[in-house]
Amino acid sequence: MNTYNPRLWALLALIVSLNTLADNGEQSSSWTLSTSPNGNIAAEVRLTEGRLQYRISYRDRPVIMPSSLGFVFKDEPALMGPFTHVETSVREVDTAWTLPWGERKHIADHFTELRYKVRETADPEREMAVVFRVYDDGVGFRYEIPDQPGLTQFEIIDERTEFVFAENYHAWWIPAYRDQRYEYQYARSALSSLDVVHTPLTLQGDEITIVVHEAALVDYASMTLRMESDNSKTLVSDLVPWANGVRVVAQTPLKTPWRTLQIAEQPSDLFSSNLILNLNEPNKLGDVSWVEPGKYMGIWWEMHIGLKDWSPGDKQGATTERAKDYIDFAAEHGIDGVLVEGWNTGWEGEWWQRAPTFDFTRAVEGFDINEVVNYGKRKGVRLVGHHETAAGIQHYEAQMEEAFRFYERLGVKNVKTGYVGTRLDGNQWHHGQYMVRHFQNVAETAARHRITINAHEPIKDTGLRRTYPNMMTREGARGMEYNGGSPDTGNLPDHTTIVPFTRLQAGPFDYNAGIFNFDYREHRPHNRVPTTLAKQLALYVVIYSPLQMVPDLPENYEGHPAFQFVEDVATDWEHTRGINGVIGDYVTIARKDRQSDDWYLGAITDENARSLTVALDFLDVGTTYRAEIYEDGKNAHWRDNPEDYNIRTMTVRSTDRLDIELAPGGGTAIRFVAL
Ligand code: NOJ
Ligand code: CA
Repeated sequence: MNTYNPRLWALLALIVSLNTLADNGEQSSSWTLSTSPNGNIAAEVRLTEGRLQYRISYRDRPVIMPSSLGFVFKDEPALMGPFTHVETSVREVDTAWTLPWGERKHIADHFTELRYKVRETADPEREMAVVFRVYDDGVGFRYEIPDQPGLTQFEIIDERTEFVFAENYHAWWIPAYRDQRYEYQYARSALSSLDVVHTPLTLQGDEITIVVHEAALVDYASMTLRMESDNSKTLVSDLVPWANGVRVVAQTPLKTPWRTLQIAEQPSDLFSSNLILNLNEPNKLGDVSWVEPGKYMGIWWEMHIGLKDWSPGDKQGATTERAKDYIDFAAEHGIDGVLVEGWNTGWEGEWWQRAPTFDFTRAVEGFDINEVVNYGKRKGVRLVGHHETAAGIQHYEAQMEEAFRFYERLGVKNVKTGYVGTRLDGNQWHHGQYMVRHFQNVAETAARHRITINAHEPIKDTGLRRTYPNMMTREGARGMEYNGGSPDTGNLPDHTTIVPFTRLQAGPFDYNAGIFNFDYREHRPHNRVPTTLAKQLALYVVIYSPLQMVPDLPENYEGHPAFQFVEDVATDWEHTRGINGVIGDYVTIARKDRQSDDWYLGAITDENARSLTVALDFLDVGTTYRAEIYEDGKNAHWRDNPEDYNIRTMTVRSTDRLDIELAPGGGTAIRFVAL
């Protein structure tokens, strides 16, 4: 819906006058402006000596200083200008849409769009447009290269999108071009000390927090950000190349992914941002009632802590009998699915070190898949499928159609995929156009079989779950598995106070919180889960995923009073509210269940104890709630006393305030039951 807006008319008048200037042969045009609906964010574009530049400000304070735009192509002149201005168009769109599942149900989609089209002044006079969408919660911009005689098939050697930041912000980042893909502990340092980093990149100034990322990554390469000249405040897009050095194999008409900047005053405001989803195309799958959020267990943690193995033989984790144990427990506690890793052939020995040998439809000895599936059906628990590829894309794609058909026949609704390995097919980065294309293929193939995906070692999330709602969740960060067997002992206690503001701004994260037994040192003397038990519970609310794992062994949950929270907590939300947060220190999030009137709250801290006071004004006005509080005990400490916790209840309303005490590495999880 386009609405009448006096600001737009003023802008149009300005554009007309600017065009006249440009047509008269001026060297530099003035800035053409587009502002967010609330007026706080301004994105501007201009030609200066024939070069395209943009800049961005927040409440009149610069965020991005004049920064250049353009491309370098293989065997063709660069598309960097000199350009002349062709036309500008603006529109305001104010609409809304519904997420079939997610952190919230209703999403407002209100933005001002500015399209600025240019043409080369000299031969071959190629045309290009840059399009800005300015929202209240940030800006997205992308390039559009139309179909034209001088440009059809081409190869991009470099996308030259500059980000000249106004200040030397504090940066929260993970390195790019490393062998463990996205699985690094986040570091904090001055922006000016960065080398080459993945997105989301989170930057903090005195008054704002910025997340730089991208949306709608389709048939293109992931954008990393590189500092070109040391100790500067300028990052330049660095697209992850193919093995031959080409970044993107393209053809016109081309629309690049959106380059995004979420801008928030408080870090916790980021939990209300819908920028990434809004910049993606609407659902292409039609009826997606078959896509269901929920919980799953798995023969999984027992491998990570060295009790069992993925390989067949004496320590084989995947057995018919063990799968039935998990199914029994899942059935008793309302858990929808059970994952079995290592059930298929190909896991012998060091499977990640060799060319893949997996057969995705053949079971190993000791595992009767039909018996397991039928046992589960009788108890109302589904098998969760697994496709570990060991980064062998060709090997996987050759079997993919059959592999999904096989699972569909068995009634499997969700498949966890995996891409362990340093390079795909031995020579491609995990984050280039090759993997982006593969992910598209997986999403579409799975959808044809009404199967949803939980991808590990994935391409990063750029909001495609809006377009393909079966792309439910993914890893793409250091998860719980690192506490199981990583040689560096595991994640630091502050890890989960950083990822909500960084990795999770991209989309859902299959983190796998929910470990109840902290004493698993038999085979892992140096590893530990660096939290208290109460924090494990709180993470179900803090770390959003529509599929939540219940990862520990059934024996470790059996009869445990705190398990009630895991059983109760929702996985699909009507509302999400960021309550407070300091990146790397603590964070509190509240969410309302879609299926009931209940609210849930999770508060977590890093290695430091903390007292927080939370206003319960997110609760529905006029409703009384029974707050079921799972909190750290007086002597709880992540290092030596993680299992000290209390459960208490109290009656609360939206006008109340609640004091929360968090132990070192601790947390609080609350269910608010509407009475
Ligand atoms: C890495 C995944 O992140 C983990 O969850 C899985 O258990 C192993 N690969 C084996 O597939
Ligand atoms: Ca992993």
